[in-house]
This record gives sequence, structure tokens and C-alpha cells, in this order.
Amino acid sequence: MELMEAMKGRRSVRNFQDRMVPETQVRDILKVMDFSPNAGNRNSIRTVVLTNRDGIEYIGKAHTTIIRNFNRGIVSLPTEEAIEKSPSAFHNAPMVVALFGPKNFYFSPADAYILAQNMALAAYEQGVSTCIVGEVLNSLGTEKGQALQAAFGIPENFAPQAYVTMGYCKGPYPKRPSRHYADVIYR
Ligand SMILES: Cc1cc2nc3c(=O)[nH]c(=O)nc-3n(C[C@H](O)[C@H](O)[C@H](O)COP(=O)(O)O)c2cc1C
Repeated sequence: MELMEAMKGRRSVRNFQDRMVPETQVRDILKVMDFSPNAGNRNSIRTVVLTNRDGIEYIGKAHTTIIRNFNRGIVSLPTEEAIEKSPSAFHNAPMVVALFGPKNFYFSPADAYILAQNMALAAYEQGVSTCIVGEVLNSLGTEKGQALQAAFGIPENFAPQAYVTMGYCKGPYPKRPSRHYADVIYR
């Protein structure tokens, strides 16, 4: 597939079939990591492919709760009860690629989002649907979240920077949303 064709055709998918993308295919998609630009070529992003339903649900719900609180001016960590009641930011994705970066590195978010978009394009080329889910604060900041992060083998000085949900689109593929970019100034 031509690059431009993939860039024009890829859409954010938020409704997934209940089946996993095979591991070999996911690993193939994640090879974009070996070719993506990254600040200082430090290769500092660490990637965890989440396939455990409970883990995905917990992080997705924590993500929604933290963003909702943030929008209401609440910066303290949410309670487990509030998390449990929230919908998941990951929709019904069967798997989620979590991109962790060092907390004290200015370019961690930039590195993560460049990888996320490259993954989304590589996935689209292979018939796999994705949605980039932005990380605003730290969805793994709770005690339970930190325990999950430790179980992934990701050190405490790392935080999630972005997520890419992955799976097969259920129902019609989304239509291209309208864009509102102003005209480019060219002098
Ligand atoms: C930085 C960033 C953060 C995003 N965060 C979310 C998110 O939290 N939830 C979501 O459903 N989509 C998220 N998206 C997807 C956008 O909503 C989507 O790209 C946009 O609506 C345009 O649609 P398209 O991707 O189909 O072209 C995010 C995209 C970017 C680039």
C-alpha cells in the first residue's frame, strides 16, 4: 500500500470484534519502532502489549476517571470505587499497546506519539484497526496502577505517554471526519 493511501484511509476505530490480532502480526506492526525518528535517538520508549482483559479494563477506566477529574479541576488520584464505575477509554479493544517513556525526558510524549501514528499506519496496511488514546496525566498513578506497571517490568521513573488500541473493526469502518485546519500560510 502506498503511504499516502494509508494516511488518507486510516481512521480511529472505537468498536472492535472480540478477537485478538495474532502475536506475530502485532510484532510485525511494532517493527516500526526500529525505523521511527526519536529524540536524540535515545530509543527510550518501552512498549507493553496489553492482552489481559482485566488489566486493559482497569487502565482504560482509570484513564477516563483521571481525565474527567482533571476537567473538573480535581488533581488528586481517583478512588478505586470511582474507577470501577467509569467507562473505559479503550472502548472494547481486545488489546492495547501502551507506550511508556521516562518521566524526566521532555520528548517522551513526542517520541510516543510518533511511534503511535507509525503503528497505526502499519496496522492499517495489514487490515488491523487502531485508535490512538492520548495520555494526559498518569493512568497508572494509583497504587494498583503502580503495581501493574511493576508487574510489566517498567521502572517507576517511567510513565505511560500514549496508547494504541488494536483489533478488528466491528461494523462499518468510520467515515473520514471533517477537518478544520486553516489555510496554510506560504510566503
Ligand atoms: C494526541 C491524540 C490523542 C487522542 N486521544 C483520543 C482519546 O483519548 N480517545 C479517542 O477515542 N480518540 C483519541 N484520539 C483519536 C482522535 O479523536 C482522532 O484521531 C480524530 O477524531 C480524527 O479521526 P481519525 O483518526 O479517524 O482521522 C486521539 C488522537 C490523538 C492524535
